[in-house]
Amino acid sequence: MEVIIKQTYEEMSRAAAHDVARLLNTKPNAVLGMATGSTPLGMYQELVRMHREEGLDFSQVTTFNLDEYVSLPVSHPQSYHYFMQENFFKHVNVPKQNTYIPSGTTSNYQAFCAWFERRIEECGGIDLQILGIGSDGHVAFNEPGSSLSSRTRLKTLAKQTIEDNARFFERREDVPIYAITMGVGTILEARRLLLVANGKNKAWACAAAIEGPITGMVTASALQMHARAKVFLDDAAASELKMREYYDWIEERRPGAPQV
Ligand code: F6R
Repeated sequence: MEVIIKQTYEEMSRAAAHDVARLLNTKPNAVLGMATGSTPLGMYQELVRMHREEGLDFSQVTTFNLDEYVSLPVSHPQSYHYFMQENFFKHVNVPKQNTYIPSGTTSNYQAFCAWFERRIEECGGIDLQILGIGSDGHVAFNEPGSSLSSRTRLKTLAKQTIEDNARFFERREDVPIYAITMGVGTILEARRLLLVANGKNKAWACAAAIEGPITGMVTASALQMHARAKVFLDDAAASELKMREYYDWIEERRPGAPQV
């Protein structure tokens, strides 16, 4: 796993966005896996800036989102459909028909999940999956105890996730209890993984995911099994890493390192 630590959230977001842009510049029809939540906002803003100012082109891109709350209509301001539209899609030129987000309102979740998995395959698989991490170590909504080979499915949110996400809703009772989420197994099939995390409240989860044992209790630790996983952290999120000095040393040496 490559661990890249930047001093600030802004620097971390820019570095992650540049990684995505590099992929689009070499593969304009890339399939991107998208995450929502507050962490990737800065990265999306930088991608939008690159689209406006530098002509970064999304016209051949296909996107698959990780998850969606069950029961929220797409027009609900806290739905991930709404989030993606407001924070990214409406500012770039991804064709609408190329964007896939799990449905939180389907009448048949099982059939929808199977279709979603099939659609990823039919589009050639995900080239780069963007991920955040929950304070309990979850990726997507794969809460502690999830199978590391799980597929897209309905999932009950953990109490900690409901607490964490209550900040976006008027009342805690309004936070949905269920979500539809890509599984850990689905995520691990992406050709590359890119996780972003910032803030002190993510420090424990980042340390557990990056340096702890691989366990279904911290589903982000499954990234250790992926050959091409990159993690972008700010200083606070990196504060509990034991190998911090080594990660910084690697970054310092990078300009002179042999090209792979
Ligand atoms: C969102 C998602 C979640 C978030 C995680 C962190 O699509 O998959 O796993 O990445 O809950 O959320 P924030 O960034 O709001 O702290």
